[in-house]
Amino acid sequence: HPAQDGRPGRHAISVIAHRGASEDAPEHTLAAYRRAIEDGADALECDVRLTADGHLVCVHDRRVNRTSNGRGSVSALELADLATLDFGSWKDEGTGYEAPDRQHEDPERTSVLTLERLLELVADADRRVELAIETKHPTRWAGQVEERLVELLTRFGYAGPAPRTDRTSPVRVMSFSARSLHRVRAAAPGIPGVYLMQFLTPRHRDGRLPPGVGIAGPGIRILRAHPEYVEKAHRAGHRVHVWTVNDSADVELCRELGVDAVITNRPKQVRNQLGLG
Ligand code: G3P
Ligand code: CA
Repeated sequence: HPAQDGRPGRHAISVIAHRGASEDAPEHTLAAYRRAIEDGADALECDVRLTADGHLVCVHDRRVNRTSNGRGSVSALELADLATLDFGSWKDEGTGYEAPDRQHEDPERTSVLTLERLLELVADADRRVELAIETKHPTRWAGQVEERLVELLTRFGYAGPAPRTDRTSPVRVMSFSARSLHRVRAAAPGIPGVYLMQFLTPRHRDGRLPPGVGIAGPGIRILRAHPEYVEKAHRAGHRVHVWTVNDSADVELCRELGVDAVITNRPKQVRNQLGLG
């Protein structure tokens, strides 16, 4: 596990399970996160969206069509609607696996996962497990995603009157939206922010990030094209968390460049490759 000295690029790479151990289990299900913890992941990544009745649920897409047997936007459905859907069986299509009938199916593999339940899983883990929570499409809800998120993090002791420092917080909030990170920081200054980048824009090429953000979150394609980025971000005082690193050549690149964390669908294999398993 990474040393907690906070210096970028000077400790073992942290392995973050992307949507859980999502290569082996349906993404964003309790089963995928349990598997990630068993597989030794240092942290769990999840995307959060608000339901029509104000619950944060772990779903990547705007709509539920790809990962469930239902249809429609998360934001138009209530938690009770989502609870009737099967979020697991799609993963098995084409593998010959037969989805069990609803009476006998494993609810941890098929039920929609709330952020609250994921926070409980982490709280109950028998070792330190970190969380990297990504706010999805936060502009649509004009602050409600972040408000609800901070409320939950406060309830679980991650934010509030005596927040942990940047170096020790087991929770990070990630976003492609600098505004979303700013909102979280304003309400919960102790929670570190990760600025996700799909492309390296001229404004960020020198390693600088939006004000107050400590961690860079470049996609792996950025590092393939601009390997010098890692050193620049480190020089600017930022840690570098890279997504989504599944191929062994990409894992090797990340190791060579000295990134601080990799976000991967296959935490076990990546840990093995890095000699952490
Ligand atoms: O961890 C960041 C990464 O998850 C961002 O891309 O589309 O998988 O949410 P996406
Ligand atoms: Ca994500």
